[in-house]
Amino acid sequence: MEKGIILIVDDEENIRDILFEVLSNEGYECERAEGGEEALSKLKRKPFQLVLSDILMPGMSGIDLLKEAKAADRDLSFIMVTAVHAAETAIEAMRLGADNYLIKPFNLDEVILSVDKALHRRRLIIENREYQFHLERKVEERTRELHEALKKIRASYRATLEALGSALDTRDIGTHAHSRRVTHYALLLGRTLGMNDQELETLERGVYLHDIGKIGIPDDILLRPGKLTKQEMEIMMTHAELGKRLLSKIDFLNEASEIVYSHQERYDGTGYPRGLKGEEIPFGARVFAIVDALDAMTSDRPYRRALPFEAARAEIIRASGVQFDPNIVRVFMSIPKEQWLKARERPLHYEEEREVA
Ligand SMILES: [Fe+2]
Repeated sequence: MEKGIILIVDDEENIRDILFEVLSNEGYECERAEGGEEALSKLKRKPFQLVLSDILMPGMSGIDLLKEAKAADRDLSFIMVTAVHAAETAIEAMRLGADNYLIKPFNLDEVILSVDKALHRRRLIIENREYQFHLERKVEERTRELHEALKKIRASYRATLEALGSALDTRDIGTHAHSRRVTHYALLLGRTLGMNDQELETLERGVYLHDIGKIGIPDDILLRPGKLTKQEMEIMMTHAELGKRLLSKIDFLNEASEIVYSHQERYDGTGYPRGLKGEEIPFGARVFAIVDALDAMTSDRPYRRALPFEAARAEIIRASGVQFDPNIVRVFMSIPKEQWLKARERPLHYEEEREVA
């Protein structure tokens, strides 16, 4: 195997020949040039890896050759050969990118060593650059794959939420719009309470799906307009636990299922299904209770007209510490009416595509 291709540039024939012989014996493929111009035209025709050049030559100098050759191929190794009196020029050559310089009369072992070193260094630089390049490509590729995967996951989350939402829709007219409004209210309140993005995401899912358990309640109980018997009421009340059971099997809804499970609890402990009290009730469910009441009171029901916003707020203050967490009620009260009205009209992002389509 070739160790490398070297161009020897010197105006003195005997020096060219000595270097040619020594380096050829070392296994290098060598060519000779008498001066800078000839060297440049040879460099254009063959992929040399190293130039060994004299500095002072008639015509183009070794320094000019170095500049031009390096500009054409930044990976070209370059060793300057100089007379003692040109040591300063040799240093200039190093500054311009030469790997080394040899002072005449040179020791042949030193020439071989310099050439080996320069070519070794060249290989390392190229390998390192290729490694960097591949690394960057690899990172880019992985990042792209990750983005794709996340996009797919999000799409499947959305599809799942939509499927669950519309499953509920087919059973209980009006629930879906209620879920949407309450979800926006909950996000507004949750954000004002300082919940972080992850907590808000869980809150959003839990609130949106709070009544999902109703898909397991028989039609004649769920859809009956009149009053329910005590036994029917008990069946109706199982919807909180049914919802939890349904969602806890879906990995990304597992946390949200706690809100679903506790959405009918009351701060004073008189709610269901567990009769949790105060801070035993998951925070998201305590947030939900307030915004659910707000929406229920400000929406028309078959048995009564919607209350004005201010009246609903007054009712919530009245139930603070009884039905609702007083600390959350305080933050609820700090949010101006306009913000609630704005949240009320916003479409939910799972639905956006469906609504446009
Ligand atoms: Fe409910």
